[in-house]
Amino acid sequence: MRYDTLRIAGDRVEILDQRLLPGKVSFVKCRSSEDIFDAIVKMKIRGAPAIGIAGAFGVYLGALQSSAREAETLRRDIGKVSARLASSRPTARNLFWALERMEKAAYGEGDASVEKIRIRLRREAERILDEDKTICRKIGSKGRQVIKKGFTVLTHCNAGSLATGGSGTALGVITASKGKISRVYVDETRPLLQGARLTAWELKREGIPAVLICDGAAAHFMSLGRIDAVIVGADRIARNGDTANKIGTYALAVSARYHKVPFYVAAPVSTFDAGIPGGKDIPIEQRHGDEVRKISGKLITVRGARVENPAFDVTPARLITAIITEKGIVRAPYTKSIKRILGGDGGI
Ligand code: MRU
Repeated sequence: MRYDTLRIAGDRVEILDQRLLPGKVSFVKCRSSEDIFDAIVKMKIRGAPAIGIAGAFGVYLGALQSSAREAETLRRDIGKVSARLASSRPTARNLFWALERMEKAAYGEGDASVEKIRIRLRREAERILDEDKTICRKIGSKGRQVIKKGFTVLTHCNAGSLATGGSGTALGVITASKGKISRVYVDETRPLLQGARLTAWELKREGIPAVLICDGAAAHFMSLGRIDAVIVGADRIARNGDTANKIGTYALAVSARYHKVPFYVAAPVSTFDAGIPGGKDIPIEQRHGDEVRKISGKLITVRGARVENPAFDVTPARLITAIITEKGIVRAPYTKSIKRILGGDGGI
């Protein structure tokens, strides 16, 4: 059984607190946009599509909280809520994409009452969540084509049901390929251990054989010929295919190229950023040093150790074998294939 990463209970949003997994399944109740902001910043919910979905519901909750009596005042309040949510985490494109959709829904077609706008916002947030389920299914079935019988695959971080509204992106491909895949190598994914805590948990629940490895062991297993493909998710993909994903992804892609192992990215179209020409323009979130200094709250280094903690890195498009989306699999030359998938003019 899969748990919903986010669910609606009346006028409340409940979020599965991923910080407590795999030890405890517990939902946090969000009654305000600020509760959602806090959940995203503290990574109670994480993963690009899930952050987008949470952001959308954050706007809805913000609209419920507003004391506006006129549409224009409500729209102004929504704009403020949206700006606040946009400042939570900078890298995942899906957040900004979802907030843009919510702002559009607030304007809709012309005049509307405050109540109508609230209803529209709820519908739009629910639509974003529902659509993500279908998108994950499509990514899974398209991605299945690149997986051959008996393959062992390696994944990094968590791009599964916890990170989306559905079955996941990279893990969506893996679960859709159940029976074909003989084993999944799971990078533990320091500093916050999304691989060890979340991906290993999801794979166990899905009954898919998994082997947990230290991040630093991936190249070793590639050199032994034990890995047939690498498949990861994405937080933001530039127009030229350069891809931001969890820190450590770039090192995996370099190793994969050296060992001639295909390297796949799986992501919805909402992760592409048509406004960004290349990877160097993708904003990379820098997180608190304590995430590196500590594991589960326990200091593992010298007190006051100097730390740098970028949450993501950028894998250049030339190291990516293909990008699996719900609209199809795109390959180099990426500028052309991405333009096609985004609808010719580069818009989503
Ligand atoms: O910092 P996180 O846990 O939000 O990072 C998540 C990732 O890097 C995922 O691979 C990415 O968001 C894709 S999730 C389908």
